[in-house]
Amino acid sequence: MDTLLIKNIGLLATPAGRTARRGADQGDVRFLRNAWVRMEDGVIAAVGTGTPERPAGAEELDAEGRLVTPGLVDAHTHLIFGGWRQNELAMKLRGVPYLDILAQGGGILSTVRATRSAGQGELEDKARLALDEMLSFGTTTCEAKSGYGLDLDTELKQLRAIRALNESHPVDLVPTFLGAHALPEDYKADRTAYIRLLCEEMIPAAAEGLAEFCDVFCETGVFTAEESRTILEAGRRCGLAAKIHADEIDAIGGSRLAGELGAVSAEHLIVCPPEGIEAMARGGTVACLLPCTSFYLGAAFAPARDMIAAGVPVALATDFNPGSCPCLNMQLAMSLGCLKYRMTPEEVLTAATLNGAAAIGRADRTGSVEPGKAGDLVVWNAPDLEYVCYRLGSNLAGAVVKGGKIYRNEQGLVGPGGERHGKAH
Ligand code: NIG
Ligand code: FE
Repeated sequence: MDTLLIKNIGLLATPAGRTARRGADQGDVRFLRNAWVRMEDGVIAAVGTGTPERPAGAEELDAEGRLVTPGLVDAHTHLIFGGWRQNELAMKLRGVPYLDILAQGGGILSTVRATRSAGQGELEDKARLALDEMLSFGTTTCEAKSGYGLDLDTELKQLRAIRALNESHPVDLVPTFLGAHALPEDYKADRTAYIRLLCEEMIPAAAEGLAEFCDVFCETGVFTAEESRTILEAGRRCGLAAKIHADEIDAIGGSRLAGELGAVSAEHLIVCPPEGIEAMARGGTVACLLPCTSFYLGAAFAPARDMIAAGVPVALATDFNPGSCPCLNMQLAMSLGCLKYRMTPEEVLTAATLNGAAAIGRADRTGSVEPGKAGDLVVWNAPDLEYVCYRLGSNLAGAVVKGGKIYRNEQGLVGPGGERHGKAH
């Protein structure tokens, strides 16, 4: 048996349970001082305080009195894509709105062209670099969407790339089919034909063991709430649970639909109206909020406090994608969660771990440090949770443990004379 003992944990901070936490429970985080965690074959076997027993042959990781939390769960990413879109920065600076860039055939549609022309191996190589960076920032599980193919072959190529990376990279990936990310250019004249293609061919093919969730971009100029319903119901008939990009720019009924359908999660929700919040609370939908996207688009921030007050579980994610948020740092999402959503560090921790896991159907396996959960956690270069949320833009993850295996961030820098510069902490 492979045993790993993490000892000398100054402060262990974790939400508890196997389901999303809502309302006052969102901020109910357990704190254990002077703690240890023992993992066996990649699974947490025991958590305690004081001096731990040392099982013979166990590997040890000394946390040196620092903070330990569950590994971060990034519940919303568009991980697989060809090219980048740095050319859009100048357009943004000239004030061209995000949806106008898309309407002119740029935005998502330009990434579709680049993704169609890339090979699966090329897409994997590129995404592997992103996953390496995510792991270094403390992300141990992430969701990954298709949606830059908008044709059967390319969507399946993206989903196969996700499957291959899930098998080969330490970060666990959860696949979502997002063929309804935009209307492809060749269907502009006949949108019902594309929706038929989605429902009759693409969704059934994606559901053949490649995707777990079906997502739709419900937005002005993209898919209406009624079209979104048709697509998500088709997904459900094939066994794909529903997710929805809702109320990002315009509130056209996405959050209300999410609640009515009992969607697992609704994402963005920047302009979510009160009736959408009420519907999500009734439907048990997780609000997956993406503060880095609000920041990057120069948009407003979702009404997170209203959601927590209404009993909607809130998760935080990066939305990593080449257009509206080329950022894969969950720590930045956590800081913005405090600063812009006015969430407490405890609420933010739950949002970035257990509630994120619930938003992608993994709360039974990860998202908290408890016996029986995966050995996924972060040893922070920080004494407490406030410090992680308070520092902006640095990478404070010292070591990331994934499935009981240790990935260390060596922050040393080597100078021109070969001299080493020490860690900042
Ligand atoms: O979640 N809003 C739609 N989809 C992505 C952006 C994709 C892109 O611009 O390439 C999002 O923000
Ligand atoms: Fe997105």
